[in-house]
Amino acid sequence: SHIAITDLLKGRVEVGATVTIKGWIRTRRDSKAGISFLAVHDGSCFDPIQAVVPNSLNNYEEVTKLTAGCSVTVVGTLVESQGQGQSFEIQAETVEVMGWVENPDTYPMAAKRHSIEYLREHAHLRPRTNIIGAVTRVRNCLSQAIHRFYHERGYVWISTPIITASDCEGAGEMFRVSTLDMQNLPRTDKGDVDYSEDFFGKEAFLTVSGQLNGETYCSAMSKIYTFGPTFRAENSNTSRHLAEFWMVEPEVAFADLNDIAALAEDMLKYVFKAVLEERRDDMEFFAQRVEKTAISRLEDFVEKDFAQVDYTDAVEILKGCGKKFEFPVEWGVDLQSEHERYLAEEHFNAPVVIKNYPKDIKAFYMRQNEDGKTVAAMDVVAPGIGEIIGGSQREERLDVLDARLEEMGLDKEDYSWYRDLRKYGTVPHSGFGLGFERLVAYVTGMGNVRDVIAFPRTKGSATY
Ligand code: 4AD
Ligand code: MG
Repeated sequence: SHIAITDLLKGRVEVGATVTIKGWIRTRRDSKAGISFLAVHDGSCFDPIQAVVPNSLNNYEEVTKLTAGCSVTVVGTLVESQGQGQSFEIQAETVEVMGWVENPDTYPMAAKRHSIEYLREHAHLRPRTNIIGAVTRVRNCLSQAIHRFYHERGYVWISTPIITASDCEGAGEMFRVSTLDMQNLPRTDKGDVDYSEDFFGKEAFLTVSGQLNGETYCSAMSKIYTFGPTFRAENSNTSRHLAEFWMVEPEVAFADLNDIAALAEDMLKYVFKAVLEERRDDMEFFAQRVEKTAISRLEDFVEKDFAQVDYTDAVEILKGCGKKFEFPVEWGVDLQSEHERYLAEEHFNAPVVIKNYPKDIKAFYMRQNEDGKTVAAMDVVAPGIGEIIGGSQREERLDVLDARLEEMGLDKEDYSWYRDLRKYGTVPHSGFGLGFERLVAYVTGMGNVRDVIAFPRTKGSATY
């Protein structure tokens, strides 16, 4: 059996041992003295390992034809490296070629550095690049750390449905799921398409959030979280929006807004520490090549207490700061990313929890405050990215919830299963949603959420 390259480079195997590695060639260099140097990577860590191949091998001819992307099995002795930068290398005894690159001219990896946009179009190439390999490992590290964080605190992971009838955010940004015969669509009397029998006799959509289902389970299991794909038919083309993205949504019974603001802070600090400890190699690459402060800002983040500010006070700060914004600020408007970034980057110079927003710009399920004008909502806004978390205390009082549904023109019948939670042992509860790609984009310094998900889905991109 073979061993992961990371185990060799991290010194987990004794020098002098015979080892087998399997991976792909990154580069090959031949010396005049009849030695071929292969850099082999297998995705387990940032660096490739060097295999030193002497011309005494009977397939040495073949070895000198290897190009970037070829797959190989190398058996040899692990030795301390003489060269700079590398700790260990392999003195090869056999090199078996498993897969050739048919035409090296059509495998454009070695020749030049590719633009990130080019890579989005070339699925087979993308994960083999340094940059996407590093993103992929950091993303994995973050997912594992998130699961660990909740697991250690007794949260139960719930898989909420992808197909649903409810528009959690009420923003009308749902993708329709249909079993209808497209050639023969049912029509209403007026001639419009009749979608009422869309999904085996009922209307259905792809979920925009697992929250409402999460509330059902937190009302029995006390502390739950979801971690899964969510979908938004947002017709926007920005570096922060995807049509398919992953969300982490804890939902906690007997918790108020301050409790989940504290949970959000603990969680972010926990996962940032995990990345700093476990993915130094990749983070050093990001700091060198993508975002100078990639490491230092995470270290900073872990050290600092989050700032907390009420929406109403935030509006005063923005109005009085003397800065010209593209979108003017007035009490009652939703904060734009330029406002959020000003607060986090210039005013507080720290991640900020903005709390108690006007009820008219927020979803129906948020708990109304005593003032009758605001709801117990929060957004966590980070320097350098803006909103990464949105959450709230939920309205647990049936009469207040019903009044709100009515006020917003929503049909009580559609939410009867949700209203039931308020009828049978209702409790105060709160939760939030973390946009996972925004988190990965922030940690890596990658400017665009498309480049931190394996197969980005945005307007007009679903080719593979
Ligand atoms: O603020 P949002 O819309 O909140 C909810 O969906 C709540 N139901 C969550 C909850 O309380 N359980 O979305 C939550 C987060 C945002 O802060 C943002 O980070 C991310 O999801 N997000 C997106 N990420 C990528 N692409 C999109 N189109 C996104 N829309 C939201
Ligand atoms: Mg939001």
